[in-house]
Amino acid sequence: MKAAADQVKADLDRLLPLLDAELTKPFRAGEAQRLAEAVRYSLEAGGKRVRPVLCLLAAEAVGGTASEALPGALALEYVHTYSLIHDDLPAMDDDDLRRGRPTNHKVYGEGHAILAGDALLTEAFGVLASADLDPIRRAEALALLAEGAGWRGMAGGQALDLEGEKVESYDLDHLRLIHRLKTGALLRASLEIGAVLGGAAAPQRMALRDFGAAIGLAFQIQDDILDATATDADLGKRAGKDAGRGKITYPSLLGLDGARKALSEATETALCHLASLPNRISLAAWAQYLALRAR
Ligand code: IPE
Ligand code: IPE
Ligand code: MG
Ligand code: MG
Ligand code: MG
Repeated sequence: MKAAADQVKADLDRLLPLLDAELTKPFRAGEAQRLAEAVRYSLEAGGKRVRPVLCLLAAEAVGGTASEALPGALALEYVHTYSLIHDDLPAMDDDDLRRGRPTNHKVYGEGHAILAGDALLTEAFGVLASADLDPIRRAEALALLAEGAGWRGMAGGQALDLEGEKVESYDLDHLRLIHRLKTGALLRASLEIGAVLGGAAAPQRMALRDFGAAIGLAFQIQDDILDATATDADLGKRAGKDAGRGKITYPSLLGLDGARKALSEATETALCHLASLPNRISLAAWAQYLALRAR
């Protein structure tokens, strides 16, 4: 694990400056300053940047460069941040703490929080559509972003998650579906967009798509486990909320030990998908690290 953590730290030290230099650029000049401030508030709150970093690493894993995948990475962090702002709204999970700060709607009001999400989602497509990239790769990346974010992906999964709060009994297949959509779809898109922008051949692209789907499931299982075991201070968001809201989670269905077993199985599956890639050291380290993360 120490080797994996060291690799992750080295990747972050190298890649975060690239992201940070660009992340808030589209949200500075303009008329609607309070909306721009609301967007920057959530972007600058310090998320883990898992999706954009994995996108950049996927490009490198197939022989491309981080800079050619950067527009995709920014787009992914915009979609993800929007999904968190909306996830925290009173109509959804009704949370008051996120990324170590009061949630967006607590500070800017629900209307502006909804609009900050709208602005981020729209800018995600804007930043990718206007990037100086090979036109075919750019179009493929846009289609993948739509697939990961939309009703066949994250938005659809969020709907099933909300509907699940009212269901009395449920099974593991349905829970896996919710997790695959609400979290897995955007992580899968992160890897596949990186692969496309890095110029992957078809088999490498498929391997990264499958890797992304597996770590996406693992990521949400660990999110569920942390909700049940960690503290607000560890997470920078409220812990222990899932049980209170009647969410379907891995620990609620399988118990903590069962959830941990499912997590390590999903992580093993992910690692198997990397076998055919030439540069897989970083992605393998990230898969191991994410399964054991404490926040
Ligand atoms: C939280 O995602 C929501 C889930 C999909 C589980 P992250 O744990 O990546 O949140 P940040 O970006 O670090 O705040
Ligand atoms: C959220 O799942 C997944 C999203 C698409 C935002 P959760 O509702 O479990 O995420 P947290 O725990 O609030 O970060
Ligand atoms: Mg939620
Ligand atoms: Mg939530
Ligand atoms: Mg959660």
